[in-house]
Parts: sequence; structure tokens; C-alpha cells
Amino acid sequence: MAPISEAVVHEGLEGVLVTRTRLSGVDGEAGQLVIAGSRVEDLAGAVPFEAVCARLWERPSVDLGPARVQAFARLASVGGALEAAETMDALRAAVAHLPSTAGADEVPAAVAVFAAAWQRRRTGKSPVAPQPALPHAADTLRMVRGEPAPAALVRGLDTYLSTVVDHGLNASTFTARVIASTGSDLVSAVVGALGALKGPLHGGAPGPVLDMLDAVGSPERAEAWLSAELAAGRRIMGMGHRVYRVRDPRAAVLEAAVERLESAGIRTPRLVLARAVERAAADVLAQRHPDRPLKANVEFYTAVLLEAVGIPRALFTPVFAVGRVAGWCAHVEEQRRTGRLIRPDALYVGPVPG
Ligand code: COA
Repeated sequence: MAPISEAVVHEGLEGVLVTRTRLSGVDGEAGQLVIAGSRVEDLAGAVPFEAVCARLWERPSVDLGPARVQAFARLASVGGALEAAETMDALRAAVAHLPSTAGADEVPAAVAVFAAAWQRRRTGKSPVAPQPALPHAADTLRMVRGEPAPAALVRGLDTYLSTVVDHGLNASTFTARVIASTGSDLVSAVVGALGALKGPLHGGAPGPVLDMLDAVGSPERAEAWLSAELAAGRRIMGMGHRVYRVRDPRAAVLEAAVERLESAGIRTPRLVLARAVERAAADVLAQRHPDRPLKANVEFYTAVLLEAVGIPRALFTPVFAVGRVAGWCAHVEEQRRTGRLIRPDALYVGPVPG
């Protein structure tokens, strides 16, 4: 065993390159995200989510409609999974009921169908059957609402799904790749990834961002409220990132998507408050951590956009999964084709037998 004093430990694997990927790349200093060869701001909303999936899955085209129908038929066989009170618990359990032979398209389709069904049940309504001819964003929103959504809202959700579809080796994607690296199946990889996504430091932040905006209430209260949070030792949700040292480029894409809703006549009164809270949060964090740039991350404007689109707060993280699952599928496939078993090491610091 190497002497403890000589070992270098990369806590949290920060800055450690563990594989090569053709799927997406993050430049944290420049604030750039490239997904399948395009900058996120040129991709999200410019082409439908299915076209982004096709690029990530290296197929000529993708149609998730038939797979949504298949997933809906499976609702009868997910047991009590969708009765769980917490939405990510329900989604994880429901996806775990898929047969281990399920692939992309079925797994991503099931994430959307199961998330919508959970929301319907929670409000005492029956799940809405998919319409396979609709695009994925339009049908997902329809299954959540129980009626077709206006085109502007569909475009908002479609932009969101593509914005979050892939993001380098984030915690959930890494989890999926670790599971895939053992030779396990896609369903197992996605169940593990859902578990990682649930955490508030990863995909669980947008709900708390909206709670924060509620608690702040009005722009002039932002600074005092945020300072009190920091003084109490709590983190500001939607701020800071492991990789970005500037504002997350996805925050700008989602902020612009909210602005587009305004132009389409859909009122988004939260936007003014959100911008004020973002400014105040950046200021108080800069005072507290002058050496560590802590700017808005993707979750900040996710909260504002998804609320404006009509997604209930409890469904924010599952809807994140509706987009990100396409990236997980691509990474699992890439890992199978090119990767090695992922098996790092840990420095043993426990008692040594005499
Ligand atoms: N609010 C307050 N302080 C924060 C902060 C935040 N949002 N993000 C980081 N910090 C502080 C940490 O407390 C730490 O301070 P310390 O050195 O005095 O202990 C310092 O900044 C460095 O943070 P660290 O935990 O090393 O950063 P990380 O790379 O491990 O964490 C996140 C990245 C995203 C987990 C972190 O910024 C965070 O918790 N953000 C809020 C949750 C969130 O929005 N998650 C969604 C991510 S897309």
C-alpha cells in the first residue's frame, strides 16, 4: 500500500479525465457547451428534440411516438410504483419495472409517459394515452395537462429538453456509464442515473429555486434574504457549478426561451424577480467567495421556464430526466462500444492490522 502522505486523492474526481466522448463537451472557463457538434445556443429550439436525439444516437431520424404507446401499455404492470409520494421515487421505481431488454427508444419514452402518469394520478385523474403522431415535447405536455398545449408552450418545453439533453460527465451520466461499464443493461443504467439526478446538488435544484423565489417575494428583499441564507450555512440553489467558472450558457438559452414566451403573449411575471435574485445572489456570493466565481447554473432559469410552460413544481426533476435520458442512452451505447470497466481506487485510511 502506498504511504498515505504520498498519495494524491482527487476528491469528487474534479478535473479527472476518465474517458473520451463524442457526445458533448463543456468548457467551464469560456462558458461553452457543445452537444453533438453544435453549440447549445444554436441547437436547442432550432431543431426538434427528436433531431437532437438522432444526432446523439447516430441515427438518420428518431420517432418516439410508437415507444410512448408501448410504454403507456406497460403502466398496468408497474405495480404500486406510481403511488409513491415523491415524484423521483415513483419514476425510479416505475422505470425499474421495464424489462431489461428495453432500449432507446422505449426507455426515454417510458420516462415521459410515467412522469406524466404520476402527475395525473397525484391530482386524482386518469393517465392520458399518448398520441404517437405528436412530437415528444408536445405529447409530453399534453399527457401532463390532459389537453393539447399552445404551440409557444410546446416550443418552450422542446427547447428545454434539448438544452439539458447532455452535459459531459455530470453525476447522473457518469453513474449510467459506470453501470454500463460492467456490462449491465440500459434500464439498470437509467435507474441508477435517476437516483443520481434526484439529489439537490444535481437535478433536484429547480424546485427549491422556485421555493426561493417565493420566499424572496420581491426584488428589494433579495439581498437580505440571500445573505441570511448564507449566514445560516445554506447554499443558494441554482447558483454555482462544478465546471463553469462563468455563467452557465444554458441559463442564457433558457432565459431567452422565457423571453420568447413573453413575445408570444404568455405572461411570465417571475422573470423580473428571477433576474433580480440572480444579480443579488451573484453579488452576495462574490463577497463571500471572492476567489470562487459562483454564477447562475442551468437550474435557475429551468425553474422559471418550466413554471411558465405549466409544468408543476413536483415534476421539474422528472422533466429534466425526460430530456437527459436521451443523453444517458447515448453514453451507455458509447460506453459499450469504446469504454473500459470504470473502477477507480480509494485511499485506505482506516486502522491497519498490527
Ligand atoms: N451557494 C452558496 N455557496 C456555494 C454555492 C452555492 N450555490 N456553491 C458553492 N458554494 C461554496 C461552497 O460552500 C464552498 O465554500 P467553502 O469553500 O467555504 O466550503 C465553495 O463555494 C466551493 O464549493 P464546492 O462545494 O467545492 O463546489 P462544487 O463544485 O463541489 O459544487 C455545486 C458545485 C453545483 C454542487 C454547488 O455550486 C451547489 O451546491 N450549488 C447549489 C445547488 C445547485 O444549484 N445544483 C445544480 C447544479 S447544475
